[in-house]
Amino acid sequence: MTQRIALIAGNWKMNLSITEAVALVSTLRDELKGPNNPEVLVAPPFTTLTAVREAVKDSPIMLGAQNMHWEDAGAFTGEISGRMLLDVGCTHVILGHSERRLIFHETDEMIDKKVKKAFEVGLTPILCIGETLEQREAGKTFDILRGQLGGCLASFITHGALPKGLILAYEPVWAIGTGKTASPEQAQEAHEFVRGWIEQKFGAEQALGLRILYGGSVKPDNISSLMAQPDIDGALVGGASLKAETFLGIIRHEA
Ligand code: PGA
Repeated sequence: MTQRIALIAGNWKMNLSITEAVALVSTLRDELKGPNNPEVLVAPPFTTLTAVREAVKDSPIMLGAQNMHWEDAGAFTGEISGRMLLDVGCTHVILGHSERRLIFHETDEMIDKKVKKAFEVGLTPILCIGETLEQREAGKTFDILRGQLGGCLASFITHGALPKGLILAYEPVWAIGTGKTASPEQAQEAHEFVRGWIEQKFGAEQALGLRILYGGSVKPDNISSLMAQPDIDGALVGGASLKAETFLGIIRHEA
């Protein structure tokens, strides 16, 4: 069987002050001292990255950012580069989240440049894809996923190779922050499709090693049935990652 290590990632979005962020990760750090935990990552807002980095120092909790620009530096008011994220201690970066796509009009082309740059500077991208309710109801889920994958990984398709380590997150837009989770079967079906697509483009080895997280209203009471699916390798958690109790409940789910 495959040896993919589970990853539970918390996407804090635009939430928490420095004091609140440090209190949250300090509790997580103290509670996650023992063995047998999945990999755990938090993606705080930029303003709390330094303080969170200090609080998780010497702990297994990893640090990610929620977005980055594709250039290294320059006249891009309000933006943050991958090199800046490395400088502040991030190892991962979430790219192409549906809120970035829908509210800030990020296109697959922009996301492709970001994924490429993240790899170039040594960050692990967590690339988000997922369909809206309208698209699902129109029977277009796989078309949308295929289009997003093809667009966001276009540079790699051109070169016929994908660097190792990419993490994908399947996040159906209709399940994000709505309390509606995809059923384990719906999620598995999408994850299987995504893994199959990766295999077709980049080979079986890449596909087998690829971690695909599920995101969208993940809670302590639905994580176990999601994680029981063969192609679900972890979760990208929004709302429930903002409280130590619920995030720990997800991290410590029964296998
Ligand atoms: P949610 O968000 O867990 O609050 O639904 C998930 C996400 O947007 O990554």
